[in-house]
Amino acid sequence: MTDVIRVDPAHPDAAALAHAADCLRRGGLVAFPTETVYGLGVHALDRAAVRRLFEAKGRPANDPLIVHVDAVERIHTLVSAVPDVVAALSARFWPGPLTLVLPRSPHVPDEVTAGLHTVGVRVPAHPVARALLGAAGIPVAAPSANLFSRPSPTRASHVLDDLAGRIDLVIDGGATDVGVESTVLDLSGDVPTILRPGAVSREMLRAVLPRVEQRSAAASSSGAMPSPGMLERHYSPRAPLTVYDGDAVARLVRDACAAIAEGHRIGIMAADEDRAALSDVERHGSRAAIAAGHRIGIMAADEDRAALSDVERHGSRATIVYLGSERDLATVASHLYAALRELDASGVDRILVRSFPGSEGLAVAIQDRLRRAGVKPVA
Ligand code: TXA
Ligand code: MG
Repeated sequence: MTDVIRVDPAHPDAAALAHAADCLRRGGLVAFPTETVYGLGVHALDRAAVRRLFEAKGRPANDPLIVHVDAVERIHTLVSAVPDVVAALSARFWPGPLTLVLPRSPHVPDEVTAGLHTVGVRVPAHPVARALLGAAGIPVAAPSANLFSRPSPTRASHVLDDLAGRIDLVIDGGATDVGVESTVLDLSGDVPTILRPGAVSREMLRAVLPRVEQRSAAASSSGAMPSPGMLERHYSPRAPLTVYDGDAVARLVRDACAAIAEGHRIGIMAADEDRAALSDVERHGSRAAIAAGHRIGIMAADEDRAALSDVERHGSRATIVYLGSERDLATVASHLYAALRELDASGVDRILVRSFPGSEGLAVAIQDRLRRAGVKPVA
């Protein structure tokens, strides 16, 4: 049985959190909202509980966990060295969506770090996470609260879809704000390196760090895993998803038409600029597919509404998800995983996505997640 407690995300009830904190201290598995995604918390120093967490998620043991604390002072018992830059980084970005990878202390169990000599630590900003960590008074290891290889949960209902009956408690604090997981910054080597892009962008980090490397996409798709857990295909909807770079929209359109002709039920996620290019799919593809009885899913930007209204009118069996304006990537990011889950649940057998362009800020994180959710990136 998994209990669910609803709390006000801005002012969570102290008694409810005391109960959840007690559950954590006793080795329970408690899902809670952070500003990025829902985490599945466990007492970070309780090996048996950590092993139960890996079992509940179906997560491979070589994928290390991030340890959450409520203040920077609390990382000292978890790490064996604190580089000078941590003071500036924590002053600027904590509490917030930044994880620092640091040399580990021997107190941290191997189960948490996957046997690495480093540990990831983070001070989350969400009022519920902060209050829970404060009440628990222990370091809390928390991966995203999804089954392994499913999209991270941004609502309590996503957690229950994946983990109901497998964990003790879900604290429902509504939808999360950022929608993609924290930036993971490795400070254990010579040059600070972003292992996973997130809302704290490379440009923001450069304001504090003279040099920041970004682990390159090319390196990560070469087969060699630069760090355990950095699995290339990770955030996967059940329907195969193909990501097309911004300049490959013509190929998206061709592939979409071909897939429809082959009888596939397709979904498309588009941006405003694609309207003209997609009119072909709409005229010959989607409407024809709907007329032929196919159930299609479409993921689109707010700007695509007018262009897609035809599809909506003609096709009660079409699934269209609007992510938001392409000029508002914070909104797009916050809706991304929910949209993948929704399209997936709607029964489409193929999702075609145009990436949201940009080489800075959240665009990098969105592209990273889409690329990792996709089977085939198309050049
Ligand atoms: O926003 C987030 O970071 C969320 C919330 C709950 O805090 N947590 C999250 O955890 O995304 P998880 O377990 O789904 O992803 C953590 C990733 C690992 O898969 C791994 O890639 C990286 O962080 N990581 C953790 N510890 C590491 C370490 N010692 N060295 C390298 N990478 C590490
Ligand atoms: Mg995860």
